[in-house]
Parts: sequence; C-alpha cells; structure tokens
Amino acid sequence: MENLEDLKSEILNKINHSAVLKELDDIRVSVLGKKGKLTEMMKTLGTLPLEEKISLGKGLNIIKTKIEEAIETQKKFLEEKALNEKLKSETLDVTLPVRPETQGRIHPVSKIYEEVAAIFGQMGFEVAEGPDIEDQFHNFNALNMPLNHPARQMQDTFYLNNNPNKPFDMETAYVIRTHTSGVQIRTMEKQQPPIRIIAMGRTYRSDYDATHTPMFHQVEGLVIDKNITLSHLKGCLHDFMKAFFELDDLPVRYRPSYFPFTEPSIEMDIGCLKSKTELKIGAGNDWLEVLGCGMVHPNVLRAGGINPDEYQGFAFGMGIDRLAMLKYGIPDLRTFFESDVRWLKHYGFTPLDFSSMTDGLSNNGGLAR
Ligand code: PHE
Repeated sequence: MENLEDLKSEILNKINHSAVLKELDDIRVSVLGKKGKLTEMMKTLGTLPLEEKISLGKGLNIIKTKIEEAIETQKKFLEEKALNEKLKSETLDVTLPVRPETQGRIHPVSKIYEEVAAIFGQMGFEVAEGPDIEDQFHNFNALNMPLNHPARQMQDTFYLNNNPNKPFDMETAYVIRTHTSGVQIRTMEKQQPPIRIIAMGRTYRSDYDATHTPMFHQVEGLVIDKNITLSHLKGCLHDFMKAFFELDDLPVRYRPSYFPFTEPSIEMDIGCLKSKTELKIGAGNDWLEVLGCGMVHPNVLRAGGINPDEYQGFAFGMGIDRLAMLKYGIPDLRTFFESDVRWLKHYGFTPLDFSSMTDGLSNNGGLAR
C-alpha cells in the first residue's frame, strides 16, 4: 500500500498543474472514476480487518474530500482562464472606424443636392423632377418665351435633331434643357396650388471657361398659393442662404433684373469680403450674385393651367456648381467634371455623413481632406 500522504500530494500536484479542463477531467476520472485509483482502494476496504478498515477508510475519505475540493478550485480557475483567452482572441475594437476601407467619395455637387434638399425640405418644399431632353414648349414657350424671343439666343441652346431623315426644324426640335424652369410648367400641369417645390438637375448651354461648363446644375424653386408676395420670396431666400452658408449674419441685397418668366424679376446678392487671396462669405464690403428670381409672370401661370387672378407665386433659379465653389472654396468649375480621383479625394465627402438640418448640414468634420 502506498503511503497515503504521498499519494495525496502526487494527485494534488497533478491537479494543480493541469493546464486545460480536459486534462483536469482525465485526472478526476483516473482517481475518482469507477475504476479510479481511489475508488479501487475504497473497494479493498471490505477485505481488511476492522481496525485497519476504520483508519484507512478515514484516511481515504479525507483525501477524497481534499481532491474533490482541489478539482473544483482548479476547474473554476481553468474555466476563467479559458474565458479570458476567448475574450482576448475575440476582441472587438469599438474605437476603430466603421468601414476603414471606404474609398469612394461623394462629389461636391451631390453633397450640395443633399444640403439644398435638407434646407428646403424643412421649409415644406417637395422635390420635383423633369427630363433633361425637353420640348420647346416646356423649356421656352410656356415660360413666356415665344419663338424668336431674343432670350432664346441668350441661352446658347443645344438643339437636338429629332429626325435625322428630315431637315432640321428649329420650331419642333427638342432641346437639352437650358434651365430647370421647365419643371415649373410640368409641376403646374400635374398639380393645382398650393405648390411648393424645388427641382434640381443637369442643365446645358454652349459655353466653356473657368466659370462655365456646357453641362452644369441648377436648383429651381416654385411657390404658388393665394396671396403670395415678394416679401415671401425675400424671406424664404434669405433664410435659405443663411442656412446654406451656416451663417447667422449674412447680409443680402436684391437688384432689379429681367427674365421673361417673372415680373418683377430680381437678382439676389450675398455679402462677402474679397481680398487678393481670399473670398469670405458674410458681412463685408462686397457683393456676390447668387441667383435669379421673381414673381411668376401671369402668362406662365396661364400656360400651366393656373388662374393668375386667383393665384400668385414666386420662382427662383440658382447654379448648384457655383454654390459648391463658393461654399467649399473650389476655384475652377471645369475640374468638377474631369473625373480626376485625386480631385475627388481632396474635395469629396465621405459617404457616411448625411446632410440634415438637425445633425449638421455640411458635416465639415466629414470632409475627406
Ligand atoms: N431660369 C433662370 C436661369 O437659368 C433662373 C430663374 C429661375 C430666374 C426662376 C427667375 C426665376 O437663369
């Protein structure tokens, strides 16, 4: 018979040195299992004389309890160790950027679309759309620009040859829209007042230099209801400019102008400070023209099927690209459409920042630079 003390310390030593739960369980089975060492020794007790039986039985029971306790303690220790290792190997670094691999950028024009829609959306405007290829009724005639109206030439129109088999007919040819104002007519045709829409999209004119490209973008606005006045127009556009440039103090001024489809017609300037190296939007000694607008001409309301004796409205149109240049300090319009990824990386916006009036409009923090 082995010395009980030696046996005990040998087993306890094994238990305390077990490294994984499986090993510990094997030890338990080899000692306390049906054929385990201690179990076998217990079995021999019956064959011993009473005296020995009592003393050995006592000794074995004490060892058994000790071993059971040691197994329990080691088990807890190993379970915790296993959990910690699992936690370590499966860690999630919540401080990592959500999608560090994001490479694409939102073009400044798309960003301005979002911003403009967010501002006018909060004022209760809906977004309307019209086609890029437009008929002359919607692009010109219904906007109080009959054939041979001088303003048609002013717009450097691209005409499309509808039917290549027939000689070009200036009167019936489609155009690629020279402005978004055609959407005014398309909206009136579909909907009776009250109307409150903006329309954003591509427009085309035959022109090309640092501030003009043959394709550019406009936002059109149209409000028609009973008792709409010039004050509504002024308030609405001033509010828009302040929200857009994110400035509380932005002086504006209105100058008389001419558009065939509005009467009176107005141009709006915003305050700025020009220096040799910088253009700063806001209070200053200079002015920058930003948009054309006016009260919708009665002939235009009539062409859209609306009675001008009952309803009035205002309309405005502005260049989105120009707004982007001013707001984000982009000097040359032509670079907008060169599809240079280096340019887009510099001036573009990360796709995960959305423009909203509550969470921030331009999310300057999200600028890709
Ligand atoms: N359509 C005009 C342009 O392209 C802008 C404008 C729109 C002016 C609506 C007045 C009212 O220049």
